[in-house]
Amino acid sequence: MTEYRSVILGVGSDLPGRVVTNDELAQTVDTSDAWIRERSGIEQRHIASEGEFTSDLGARAAEKAISNAGIDKSKIDLIVVATTTPDLTFPSTASIIQEKLGIRHGAAFDVQAVCSGFIYGIHIADSMLKSGPYEHALVIGAETFSRILDWNDRSTCVLFGDGAGAMVLQKQKTTESGIINNFIRSDGRYCDLLYVDGGPSRTQTVGHVRMIGNQVFRHAVKDIAIAMKECANSAGLEPNEIDWFVPHQANQRILDGVGKKLSLRKEQVISTVAKHANTSAASVPLAFDTAVKDGRIKRGDLVMLEAFGGGFTWGATLLRF
Ligand code: COA
Repeated sequence: MTEYRSVILGVGSDLPGRVVTNDELAQTVDTSDAWIRERSGIEQRHIASEGEFTSDLGARAAEKAISNAGIDKSKIDLIVVATTTPDLTFPSTASIIQEKLGIRHGAAFDVQAVCSGFIYGIHIADSMLKSGPYEHALVIGAETFSRILDWNDRSTCVLFGDGAGAMVLQKQKTTESGIINNFIRSDGRYCDLLYVDGGPSRTQTVGHVRMIGNQVFRHAVKDIAIAMKECANSAGLEPNEIDWFVPHQANQRILDGVGKKLSLRKEQVISTVAKHANTSAASVPLAFDTAVKDGRIKRGDLVMLEAFGGGFTWGATLLRF
């Protein structure tokens, strides 16, 4: 039987120009550079300027991914955007990006799985490419998370940033490269540990991020390690046989904790949390693009993506680049 795979044809990312350091934050919030670095590994974050929207970051990342893929954008027939900070309640940010890119056909929609959104989006696009009439999918993670932060709450506002990353997937008859395996999960019992206290139906407001950080931390390390192991094992591999890990960039201590649990070498784990902070659904494709552009991740390498977020939701994707 012919096997189809979704091959990663191109990657791209975009960050707002404005960089906010920990020291700058400490001028307005009761915190310090030392506390933030020690507890999270974060040194700085990029913050969108007034009038710069999630769709702007997403469209710029998409343009770069399409150019990197070397195809004409008219080939894109599926756009999936993972975001928790859409431009508007509707239409979807995917539809707005479709318009910004000048694409006039195919399907476009948003996925909401908070920080795990990109992994969910990849799984959905991969399934639609394999089972449907689609040939080229654009999967984007894009956030202006700064817009839903309570800038007086030091326990959350120091941890997040804005950005976007994108991948172009192409359906190909191959077993040599592409997405091998996806694993996604959710457990709604933990909705109250990480959430936004507003929304169109309940409050008619946008709301702010609320989090019980230490409990989120505990679940994240445990669930991510299980997801990575299951995703690798279903492909007949152990996690430490994989060349590169591109984790969700929430906290360096979470990355270290998972690495220790799975006996990974520090050099296998791509970390951009120091420079980008937690950009929610954008963090995995942003980190992936960073490691491709700096020459670490090369064509043919075996790569695992993983993420964890509100819901709780979590998941992993195994691919050969
Ligand atoms: N600056 C200085 N002090 C701070 C602070 C800040 N920005 N934020 C919290 N604190 C204080 C707390 O008030 C608390 O003080 P107290 O002991 O006097 O009550 C103290 O630091 C310890 O707080 P705690 O929450 O127990 O710290 P922690 O070691 O768990 O680290 C996080 C806090 C948020 C960095 C950590 O729990 C974490 O990263 N959790 C996961 C968050 C995450 O990744 N979320 C997204 C998942 S997608």
